[in-house]
Amino acid sequence: MISLIMGLPGAGKGTQADLIIEKYGIKHVSTGNIFRSAIAEKTALGTELASYMDQGNLVPDELTINILKEELSKDEYKVGFLLDGFPRTKVQAEYLNQMLIDMNLELDNIIYVNVAEEEIMGRLTGRLSCPNCGATYHAVNLPPKVENTCDKCSTQLITRSDDTVESVQNRLEVAKSQTMPVIEFYQESGKVIEIDASSKSVETVFNEITKSIG
Ligand code: AP5
Ligand code: MG
Ligand code: ZN
Repeated sequence: MISLIMGLPGAGKGTQADLIIEKYGIKHVSTGNIFRSAIAEKTALGTELASYMDQGNLVPDELTINILKEELSKDEYKVGFLLDGFPRTKVQAEYLNQMLIDMNLELDNIIYVNVAEEEIMGRLTGRLSCPNCGATYHAVNLPPKVENTCDKCSTQLITRSDDTVESVQNRLEVAKSQTMPVIEFYQESGKVIEIDASSKSVETVFNEITKSIG
């Protein structure tokens, strides 16, 4: 199964992706998580990535595509994958389209998690993230079992450096101008499963997604 999960920053893409990959036995590919791993390694590439991400700007298309291409060349993705946070621009969508043609693969599902913008700031400024495995929690909505500790790998949780009010505002503007047109383009193809996720629990959203995927 090859799927996409799309939506504004803080829509719950990563949260739902964790549940979807477990149910369907596929791999999670989050460009944001891949970039954050590179930043944690403190390489020159990581410094460059952080300069875009901390401000809430997009990483340039060419760099994003090269990193994704290298990741997807790993054998582990042969079981299928769920792309989270890619494609985010028209150039990336065109690349993905061509890559799938070259690999003789087709997109099975495009999940669009639609959340009212008013809910986003609270979700992101309360988010707790695992710097080791990428799992996400929320101080109020989805707290970890042990305070500030990842349920999955016991690593101490952090607040992402781009979860500041200024960066979130910019991420929202960038998503509306660059990524919403990509979602609209997919909607025209009739393949999009749109989930209205405003004011709904993680479980309710997940149930609606799995009902639609089948
Ligand atoms: P990325 O890591 O993809 O961040 P994002 O798109 O801003 O989305 P988030 O990860 O912030 O939100 P999410 O939808 O995953 O929500 P989550 O499940 O965590 O990208 C980061 C940066 O990397 C970009 O700004 C850019 O610089 C760069 N980048 C990445 N990909 C790129 C690309 N393709 N091209 C160029 N640049 C790229 O949930 C959020 C919070 O809400 C959590 O606390 C969660 O617990 C809570 N929550 C989730 N669901 C619910 C619910 N139903 N009810 C209440 N709370 C909920
Ligand atoms: Mg995410
Ligand atoms: Zn973890």
